Amino acid sequence: MMNFNWDKLIVALDLDTRKDIDKVIKSLSGKGVKFKIGSIAFTKFGPEFVRKLTAKKIDIFLDLKLYDIPNTMKETAGIITEMGCWAFTVHTKAGFEALSAVKEEVVSRSIGKKIRKPLILGVTELTSSAAKVEQVLALAKVAQAAGLDAVVASSRETPAIKKAFGSALKIITPGIRGPGDCAGDQKRITSALTAFKNGADYIVVGRPIISKSNYLQAAKKVLSY
Ligand code: C5P
Repeated sequence: MMNFNWDKLIVALDLDTRKDIDKVIKSLSGKGVKFKIGSIAFTKFGPEFVRKLTAKKIDIFLDLKLYDIPNTMKETAGIITEMGCWAFTVHTKAGFEALSAVKEEVVSRSIGKKIRKPLILGVTELTSSAAKVEQVLALAKVAQAAGLDAVVASSRETPAIKKAFGSALKIITPGIRGPGDCAGDQKRITSALTAFKNGADYIVVGRPIISKSNYLQAAKKVLSY
């Protein structure tokens, strides 16, 4: 029996019908799988939808990639914290001051309201761009200095990030493709097992799962290569 890394899988719910989203969640929940709501589903279904899922104890990763002035990022992060999300993203390019303000707000809001503290994930370079390892490392340094929990980076940079920061920064890797999957717009792609071997703590997978008709079977396939 194959042991699947279910608790390290984050499925991107980049779908615009509730019916499809509910079907993906139903097919994969109860295994420790986390679900990512990005700008597509958030713009369509809004914060109430996110609250509805978090109220059901579903681990939601809100991927809005905040990138703004410190006050705006901080206030938004506070609202996200109150939504009960498992994790959310900010752009590390927003800089140390903004990221530190986000961290401070998340900590104080979660303690004050007695809610779980969401993980703050710093996006480095998007996996759809052909970024250099040095650029990603420089952004990871800002993330770590500001007290973020993790960075989002491709498998190509993971060994260098692990070497530089060890367990101080978790790594989330998107751009996962199995055999026969289309790269689509992703440039720095890798298979799930290679991503884990390189040190990813979690992988984000969208189209290789959500574009298939059998989500469970597709997820098992992704986790097998
Ligand atoms: O469909 P696919 O597997 O390419 O989906 C990847 C998901 O991860 C998308 O929702 C995308 O927005 C997100 N993501 C990414 N690269 C980043 C951060 C997030 O692809 N650096």
